[in-house]
Amino acid sequence: MTARTYRIAAIPADGIGPEVIAAGLEVLEVLARRDGGFRLEVTEFDWGSARYRRTGALMPGDGVARLRGFDAILFGAVGAPDVPDHVTLWGLRLPICQGLDQYANIRPTRILPGIASPLAGIGPGDLDWVIVRENSEGEYSGIGGRAHRGLPAEVATEVAIFTREGVTRIMRHAFRLAQSRPRKLLSVVTKSNAQRHGMVMWDEIAAEVAAEFPQVSWERVLVDAMTVRMVKDPRSLDTIVATNLHADILSDLAGALAGSLGVAPTGNIDPERRAPSMFEPIHGSAFDIAGKGIANPVATFWTASMMLEHLGEADAAARLMRAVERVCAEGVTTPDVGGRATTREVTDAVCEAIRGGNA
Ligand code: IPM
Ligand code: MG
Repeated sequence: MTARTYRIAAIPADGIGPEVIAAGLEVLEVLARRDGGFRLEVTEFDWGSARYRRTGALMPGDGVARLRGFDAILFGAVGAPDVPDHVTLWGLRLPICQGLDQYANIRPTRILPGIASPLAGIGPGDLDWVIVRENSEGEYSGIGGRAHRGLPAEVATEVAIFTREGVTRIMRHAFRLAQSRPRKLLSVVTKSNAQRHGMVMWDEIAAEVAAEFPQVSWERVLVDAMTVRMVKDPRSLDTIVATNLHADILSDLAGALAGSLGVAPTGNIDPERRAPSMFEPIHGSAFDIAGKGIANPVATFWTASMMLEHLGEADAAARLMRAVERVCAEGVTTPDVGGRATTREVTDAVCEAIRGGNA
């Protein structure tokens, strides 16, 4: 039998990105060997801030087109101390997400064994959420501009765009995901009390789409109230859908409540599979610890597991998460989550758990 082959584009990019992506690719290779049913054909791209310094662009002009032929993209982190953040963001990650129309950003949050939540009395099992972030428009649409530059009358606009199509498709995806989870519970985050155009349409469309999913119980929660709910009553939440910016903020809070952003994964998904989806750890480039060998690779492992799941390799995806949970439970963790292990040691331990059949 020939192995199923997946073509993966790896974009390690900046800071600790190359360290965690190398660890992720190593673990994926061990998994593929152990499984025997699939193989990965990895192409690495040197896109990122170093390329920007050299050539003036983070990726080539036809970068997005070149990614189209792959089955999935594994992304490290972008951002450097000497390049403005909006340049790096709009030069690499956003053009890929928006160019490939990866409109659903999926952010699972759970407390892994061995990792402590800052919330008293809350441990693994008490906090198990998936945040669905609208990833193609909203507050990140890039619409706006500046006039009267440098003059006292200088003005800047930043326009949030909500389209019926964009809101409907993210709601459908969120309801479908909520339906697939045991609790069938969806919280629709909004701010329609203050934002009376876009957010009111958001609420209306949520109600319309809800009618297609009678098994899902759903509620509307104002974004400010949601921050309180997440802290005070984490067990009451399951699947959460929010706009691009609201979900950006809530997912940082979610990561902190689960113990560390260092373990949080994400997938930028095209649910219709017209183009490859892109998987990345949320933590960013973390230049303060780059090159020290102590970056936490767990977010990338979890991210790799999401990628395998998306590719249809559910068994390998689950095996990887079992290995990660076992290693975390044994206390083999990096300093950001209170441990003393290096990236190398955590990676070796996870590879060993996969090889040894413990996972
Ligand atoms: C995230 C990040 C990015 C975002 C930053 C790096 C621009 O915070 O993925 O959540 O806001 O989208
Ligand atoms: Mg963020």
